[in-house]
Amino acid sequence: MKQVLVTGGAGYIGTHTCVELLARGYTPVVVDNFVNSSPAALDRVRRLTNHELRSYEADVRDTARITEILKKHDCEAVIHFAGLKAVGDSVARPLDYYSANVIGTHSLLSAMMEAGTGRFVFSSSATVYGEPEFLPYTESHRLSPTNPYGQTKLSVELMLKDLVESGGMTDVAILRYFNPIGAHASGEIGEDPHGVPNNLMPFVAQVAVGRRPALNVFGNDYDTPDGTGVRDYLHVVDLARAHVLALERFEREPGAITVNLGTGHGTSVLELVSAFEAASGRKVPINFGPRRCGDIAAFWADPSQAEALLGWRAEYGLADMCRDQWAWQSQNPNGFELA
Ligand code: NAD
Ligand code: UFG
Repeated sequence: MKQVLVTGGAGYIGTHTCVELLARGYTPVVVDNFVNSSPAALDRVRRLTNHELRSYEADVRDTARITEILKKHDCEAVIHFAGLKAVGDSVARPLDYYSANVIGTHSLLSAMMEAGTGRFVFSSSATVYGEPEFLPYTESHRLSPTNPYGQTKLSVELMLKDLVESGGMTDVAILRYFNPIGAHASGEIGEDPHGVPNNLMPFVAQVAVGRRPALNVFGNDYDTPDGTGVRDYLHVVDLARAHVLALERFEREPGAITVNLGTGHGTSVLELVSAFEAASGRKVPINFGPRRCGDIAAFWADPSQAEALLGWRAEYGLADMCRDQWAWQSQNPNGFELA
């Protein structure tokens, strides 16, 4: 049994990754403080996979507790999703972000040292690059995040680099995600944002299901083909699969890697809206509004390093992402708790 601690395992990407881990013969052990998720999401993973799933309500900043859990389950690796992720919120309360994301990771790594767990997969973000000097972003693009959330991700990347150089840890995979959307095709699990969604796709899906009247498009005067923002959207199941491939790579080739995870294609806000309308058969009314402060016009990934190092490439397209997002949203119009 290959036991893997999954911090933040009750969240959006964490639940999908637990499903993929179980399918590939790993045993995930979840730690989550449920600050942005609910235990109901883990029940759905159990139901969907027909597997037991150990979970603990704990904070990654509780070093002693995490050490105890790592030792108890004899975990060989950690996949670290736990953290806070809302860019705007990070501007308003930076200390909470540094605490959860940087101090949280420091605590987790200290627990791993104590427990002798030597493999680490980290959720980083395309936000570490900042304003593009060139596109697509390659992993060697300058790192210059423009908000506190991005700074916390970069801080952790630097901490990991120093740790690897010290010899304290060898097997580290830094995964820089672009824009994950969609859901498991069953519609059993998906993203369940608290309050008003910050991100485009959950907002679009909530409009389609009738929870919100219209989408506000943040700017239509960008230097992009239709004037709206362009991003590299990838299916969350493709993203989840990359974490399993990172663990498998440690088996055959120990060492530290950093890879972008995206499709390599940019999609505009208006393109996403029309793909979603086609997949759902619902109209998504839009209003054009001003640009959102701090937004970048367009960015997408060069994912070739992920293919070379992990054998990973995105398999799902935009129509699949919209279909599966709609399966989740239409079956669970109010998310997990009130489904
Ligand atoms: P999410 O909020 O759904 O999941 C994060 C989980 O971590 C939640 O279940 C939350 O309750 C838990 N958590 C937060 N702080 C914790 C703490 N101190 N101790 C224990 N648990 C804690 O977010 P997600 O979309 O699944 O993102 C997972 C990771 O991927 C995050 O680190 C995020 O920054 C990163 N990421 C996400 C995106 C994205 O667009 N979703 C993009 C790039 C990177
Ligand atoms: N947008 C709208 N209306 C909305 C929400 C978004 O028009 O209601 C637009 C944005 O202006 C942008 C695009 O849709 O052009 C995508 O916005 P998201 O908020 O969905 O995604 P971002 O690229 O801004 O940010 C996300 C995460 C970050 C992460 C980044 C890269 O929120 O944490 O992807 O991975 F760093």
